[in-house]
Amino acid sequence: MKIPQSITTLESKSELKNNVNCTFSYIRVMQEADLDWVLAVENNAYDFPWSRQGFENSLDQGLNYVFCTLDHTRLGYCCMLPVLDEVDVLNICIVPQFQGTGVAKQAMQKVLDSLALADYKVVFLEVRESNEPALKLYSGLGFNKNGVRHNYYKAWVWDEDVCDLIEGKEDAILMLRSLQRV
Ligand SMILES: CC(C)(COP(=O)(O)OP(=O)(O)OC[C@H]1O[C@@H](n2cnc3c(N)ncnc32)[C@H](O)[C@@H]1OP(=O)(O)O)[C@@H](O)C(=O)NCCC(=O)NCCS
Repeated sequence: MKIPQSITTLESKSELKNNVNCTFSYIRVMQEADLDWVLAVENNAYDFPWSRQGFENSLDQGLNYVFCTLDHTRLGYCCMLPVLDEVDVLNICIVPQFQGTGVAKQAMQKVLDSLALADYKVVFLEVRESNEPALKLYSGLGFNKNGVRHNYYKAWVWDEDVCDLIEGKEDAILMLRSLQRV
């Protein structure tokens, strides 16, 4: 199985003129040198972020990409684990100030196209049932719901007795997308 090490794509220059600081332009492989930045974004974006060790493991075993503008500003990243001809999307995150501008959708479409060209057959992922932006992103990219993993994630849940948030669990929706042409 081929492993795509870089995915380069350039959007039109006229688009860049309008908003040079957040227009997604290309994807490159995540490097060790990105990890301070990645961790800062991760800690800001998630209640239960990955640790540095988690990202180091992913750099050792997975496919990890950073989404950038033409002037090399980093907009977000994704981490995936290939297993035979399948790919598990483990993490995708966009810098909060650039969320909702289409970065994830454009970048992940390029990633999916590249995985298909590399002969991977299926991409799957888990997503919190409460994560509306992510659910919308994945359905827009052609992922379909394929099951539920009960109590899969740690979550903050409201406890009536103590009138406070306590650590509990949340279900994951399992989603799949075929990369095979019909
Ligand atoms: C989920 C996430 C990656 C989406 O990235 P993004 O660049 O903001 O998404 P896009 O701008 O490409 O939008 C993709 C779709 O989600 C929708 N969307 C984006 N933000 C949304 C929001 N806050 N509420 C509802 N829908 C939203 C968009 O309308 C778009 O839907 P469409 O294709 O029907 O138009 C981003 O919100 C994020 O980094 N969240 C924190 C980390 C996280 O939860 N990652 C997912 C783990 S499974």
